[in-house]
Amino acid sequence: MSEHKIELSINGRRQQATVEGRMLLSDFLRVDAGYTGVHVGCEHGVCGACTVIVDGLAVRSCLMLAVQADRCEVTTVEGLAADENSLHPIQQAMRDEHALQCGFCTPGVVMTLAALTGGAEKPDAETLLASMSGHVCRCTGYQGIRRAILKLAGESEAKQP
Ligand code: FES
Ligand code: FES
Repeated sequence: MSEHKIELSINGRRQQATVEGRMLLSDFLRVDAGYTGVHVGCEHGVCGACTVIVDGLAVRSCLMLAVQADRCEVTTVEGLAADENSLHPIQQAMRDEHALQCGFCTPGVVMTLAALTGGAEKPDAETLLASMSGHVCRCTGYQGIRRAILKLAGESEAKQP
């Protein structure tokens, strides 16, 4: 069994850990670090539920080893809002537009949108909508998610085909 020391930042907090070489980032975040907002569905990169942000990019944490996150900045859904009494604008839009039911897919959806909108360039609605092709939602039929994205992008439903 190979063990490795890693040091990374999770939601702005630096921490050190010792992990097995084979440990997935998703398992490390959920089990060792306690960030259970990282949901695990398919465990092979298809459903998008485990999506987190690593150094500014949306990443499937079930396809990344914890050792690969050494010296990285990781953000989970728990680290998105300014404080525990507020919602990030993406979370607020999802709430306002009833874009979730069971909520299993929701952290991954939110983190993909956060990665895309967190940079200097603001993607258009079409780009944001296309990103949802990487997320499986079994509940909503995607219409609420679509409305939330249009709200975020500042476009009305009427403008969309
Ligand atoms: S659990 Fe990672 S993509 Fe499904
Ligand atoms: S809200 Fe249930 S899977 Fe998306």
